[in-house]
Amino acid sequence: MPTDANTQQLTFPADFLLGSATAAYQIEGAADEDGRGPSIWDTYSHTPGRTWNGDTGDVAADHYHRLDEDLDLMASLGLKAYRFSIAWPRIQPTGRGPANPKGLDFYSRLVDGLLQRDIAPVATLYHWDLPQALEDEGGWTNRETAYAFADYARAVGEALGDRVAIWTTLNEPWCSAYLGYGAGAHAPGRSDGAAALTAVHHLNLAHGLAVQQLRAVTTNDPRYSVTLNFHVLRGEGEGADEAVRRIDALANRAFTEPLLRGHYPQDLLEDTAAVTDWAFVQDGDLAQIQQPLDLLGVNYYATTAVRLWDGVTPRQNNDGHKDMGGSPWPGSTHVEFVAQEGPHTAMGWNIDPDGLEELLLDLHTRFPDQPLVITENGAAFEDHVSTGPDGGHAVHDPERIDYLHRHFAAAHRALTAGVDLRGYFVWSLMDNFEWGYGYSKRFGIVHVDYETQRRTLKDSALWYRELATTGSIPLPGTKVA
Ligand code: FCB
Repeated sequence: MPTDANTQQLTFPADFLLGSATAAYQIEGAADEDGRGPSIWDTYSHTPGRTWNGDTGDVAADHYHRLDEDLDLMASLGLKAYRFSIAWPRIQPTGRGPANPKGLDFYSRLVDGLLQRDIAPVATLYHWDLPQALEDEGGWTNRETAYAFADYARAVGEALGDRVAIWTTLNEPWCSAYLGYGAGAHAPGRSDGAAALTAVHHLNLAHGLAVQQLRAVTTNDPRYSVTLNFHVLRGEGEGADEAVRRIDALANRAFTEPLLRGHYPQDLLEDTAAVTDWAFVQDGDLAQIQQPLDLLGVNYYATTAVRLWDGVTPRQNNDGHKDMGGSPWPGSTHVEFVAQEGPHTAMGWNIDPDGLEELLLDLHTRFPDQPLVITENGAAFEDHVSTGPDGGHAVHDPERIDYLHRHFAAAHRALTAGVDLRGYFVWSLMDNFEWGYGYSKRFGIVHVDYETQRRTLKDSALWYRELATTGSIPLPGTKVA
């Protein structure tokens, strides 16, 4: 048993949202159906050499055609909330113009199906699937994309704004901007530091505009949020503090400061001055960006170790992302990302539940009045389906249970220490298209056989069912099957 796994009963508050998360392009499939237009992820995944094995989201977990079955699955797990994303190109195939009724209908059925099963709908407007037509006009480097996003938000708000419980504008704008436009490791696959920083600002602007549009049209008093992937940094060697400061500015404060405090950090502007003059920030933008948020979404998987590079030894690049040639760190390419001690998940990410606790405490200290929600946490491991004597299938995944157990315990410690934490969404409900890694990485608590689309509850799903239905983290050794 791990030393930090709890041996006493740890119980979450009655209204704590114990949920699970997915994203449209990762699970839906049906890429060409019902008027959906192409997104940058269709283009990127269909470009040779971009994704593992050339995998695409064309079929994925075929969720689009298996909605009722998947809703029943969620209900059978006792989920209190489900975090999904809406595919912009299903709503507006070219990113502009009238909403496609068939696209809206799919999400409307999803939301109704959740409510019928007493599961709170938590909708993310943008989980990386920008309509390709907008990318053709510059994508997130084009300011107009932020206004197009606001129009899209309004259209979705008009259709679902009487039922969605929590709205999230963007998922991990860090990935959209830096991996998409700087590193080339995500769609649209560009490698240009200035473009990445321009995208940061336009994503922030898009968020602020979208919150205002949603507020104007929703009728059920929902909560509003954005989800960020915080980098929990460990500095090493001489100049450790400087390395941490620079990466913290690019990765974390480039979002928290404008979104929550209405300004860009001065050190960020200085560190990146050789890359861009930030002239894309126009008067009045920051007031648009800083909108009161009911919840700040926190995604956490692992920590990141940094140090200043000596310029001599080969530069280490263990920042947790696929190396596709470009850098996601404009202006800080002399910082190196150092390998960390194990254990690691199948992604090569180190397992460090204390990092989650630290992050929550730190955010609470910096933003004391800001309620938080963990919108993603989970782990990929090599899973194997076994067939029992009765022909039934099972997936024994003790490492995933251990990972989740220790991270839920860490979140509980933060809660006990006074952090205003409102919920926890396990990534992911089911195995899915893991972006550049294609189908090679399985994060689900439900196994998906991509040949047959059969769903099999992993042991971790049974473990999570126990947690979601009782509100208490199962004690080690509890029989959950
Ligand atoms: C996050 C993404 C999510 C998934 C997990 C593993 O960065 O938001 O879609 O890929 O990582």
